[in-house]
Amino acid sequence: MTDIPLVDLTVHHTPRDLRDRIALGFTKVLRLCADTFFAKRYGHRAIVLETVAAVPGMVGATLTHLRCLRRMQGDNGWIRTLMEEAENERMHLMTFIEVAQPSLFERLVILLVQWAFYLAFFGLYLVSARTAHRVVGYFEEEAVISYTLYLKEIDEGRSPDVAAPMIARRYWKLPDTATLRDVVLVVRADEAHHRDVNHGFADELAGKPAPLSVAPYPEHADDIRLAA
Ligand SMILES: [Fe+2]
Ligand SMILES: [Fe+2]
Repeated sequence: MTDIPLVDLTVHHTPRDLRDRIALGFTKVLRLCADTFFAKRYGHRAIVLETVAAVPGMVGATLTHLRCLRRMQGDNGWIRTLMEEAENERMHLMTFIEVAQPSLFERLVILLVQWAFYLAFFGLYLVSARTAHRVVGYFEEEAVISYTLYLKEIDEGRSPDVAAPMIARRYWKLPDTATLRDVVLVVRADEAHHRDVNHGFADELAGKPAPLSVAPYPEHADDIRLAA
């Protein structure tokens, strides 16, 4: 693929206060759980974690929508941005399900984790939307790291660089010759974009200036129904 999405892999939001430290600590604990459970099974890891990653955008969009209705005020584009993030994460899931198949146990984990995470994130967003967006910003920092490690597995021959699934080629408008490596590159760029957007939302809610730059979002299908 010629257009390799450039991603700044060094971006890290330095915690500024207790809420940031709680968000980072929570993220690191979950990272440890994921590392222990999946080790280097990156295809399976992607499937299970993308079922989680697709939750916050929808929760944030719902609660922002309800708040705007109650206060009768504009959303500054947040609702669509967050809904699009949820849809994008679901497309990551639909892509990786073509690459690996979750075990029965992993499907059970997905069911249980979805209940627990949805309720926990909903509660957190109600109490502190700012902390919730910071948590997502840190999740996305970890996602960028994980997909970079997945790329290394592919480049060093430990994961086969199979042909890109059709759904991925359509969604990211990739050429017919695209492979899994190309897919991981665009997925990682998506995650970097979510990282910067969510840290920016947390900064905005904290009354701080947003990050100077936001990682460019790869181009996606104009009509998602044509991709799926
Ligand atoms: Fe994702
Ligand atoms: Fe993400």
